[in-house]
Amino acid sequence: MVTVFGAYGHTGRFVVTELRERGFVPILAGRDADKLKALAYETGLEARPASVDDPGSLDRALAGAAAVINTAGPFATTGGPVIEAALRAGIPYLDVAAEIEANADTFAHFGERARAAGAVIVPAMAFYGGLGDLLATAAMGEWTSADEAHVAYALSSWHPTAGTRASGVISRERRDGRRVRFANGRLEYRDDPSPTLEWSFPEPVGPRDVIGEFTMADVVTVPSHLSIPEVRTYMTVEAAKDVVSADAPAPAPADESGRSAQTFLVDVVVRSGSDERRAVATGQDIYAITAPLVVEAVERVLSGRTKAVGVVSAGEIFDAPDFLRALSAHLTVDLRK
Ligand SMILES: NC(=O)c1ccc[n+]([C@@H]2O[C@H](COP(=O)([O-])OP(=O)(O)OC[C@H]3O[C@@H](n4cnc5c(N)ncnc54)[C@H](OP(=O)(O)O)[C@@H]3O)[C@@H](O)[C@H]2O)c1
Repeated sequence: MVTVFGAYGHTGRFVVTELRERGFVPILAGRDADKLKALAYETGLEARPASVDDPGSLDRALAGAAAVINTAGPFATTGGPVIEAALRAGIPYLDVAAEIEANADTFAHFGERARAAGAVIVPAMAFYGGLGDLLATAAMGEWTSADEAHVAYALSSWHPTAGTRASGVISRERRDGRRVRFANGRLEYRDDPSPTLEWSFPEPVGPRDVIGEFTMADVVTVPSHLSIPEVRTYMTVEAAKDVVSADAPAPAPADESGRSAQTFLVDVVVRSGSDERRAVATGQDIYAITAPLVVEAVERVLSGRTKAVGVVSAGEIFDAPDFLRALSAHLTVDLRK
């Protein structure tokens, strides 16, 4: 059994489906008893209402589970309490947080305790944060350090969920109107506007205008285990506009699995001196792809196919090339050395 906290959310539902397809029994958890009941009715699964303000309810939600996946964001609110519950239960915790500061907090607040307890906590095990880290780690090959890592996102569009919007609001509040980037080995807050530049994506996308320093969770996950002082992320201009637009619709299902028509290409380049290595992934729907990413991770953690304990990102705890190969039904990956 694997508890999914936030099970009735957009991403939570994809995760519940993916768990079932792989033979796990999801326990549906979340704060809204009615929404949980509706999902339990639809799926025949057990529902356990739980609130981050009530540790006892979280303990009941995790009782008997082998692991917990947290898909309820903003993670600035849900991360700490659900991690505490996982540590009390002695089970692995994985989440899909895209919030930079919330992910940084998970490393900072729980790193030592988790390591000492031999516990496994994997934040950002998702499209943003997890996939970029796996690609950067795979591209590095035997390199243990590099001068720069660049993660460039080409999304055909970005119709955000309510959870993405809410997480964006919390992150902006925490930054007090400033923007953040990762430079000189640390997060740096700045008042100047983000640069716009052209990025040469591999075909079929080709050259596109991108917002430079459109900073995503990869700036926390990648340098958490790779010695790279400059980690930059980029977003195609149209998608960057979509996600902040008040009129952008929510993602709409376009196939029988519920995926939207959105396509993505993630282009990762690592540089060391004059040497450059690249890893490219393409697929469909950034929310839907998060489910096989986090469920593959759970499966590997539960079967001991891991390389580290503590608070660990995808690239550190898993064999990155092997992990990416395992997702070939969902993701096309091209490693170029
Ligand atoms: N890193 C990535 O690539 C990635 C990918 C997918 C999702 N995400 C993140 O995952 C989160 C969920 O996204 P989504 O697309 O699934 O959005 P969503 O459909 O709006 O779902 C959000 C879920 O979080 C729950 N929630 C919010 N605040 C809560 C709280 N304080 N306590 C308990 N539950 C709470 C909501 O419950 P209610 O309905 O009761 O409010 C809902 O179930 C967002 O933070 C998003 O950024 C990240």
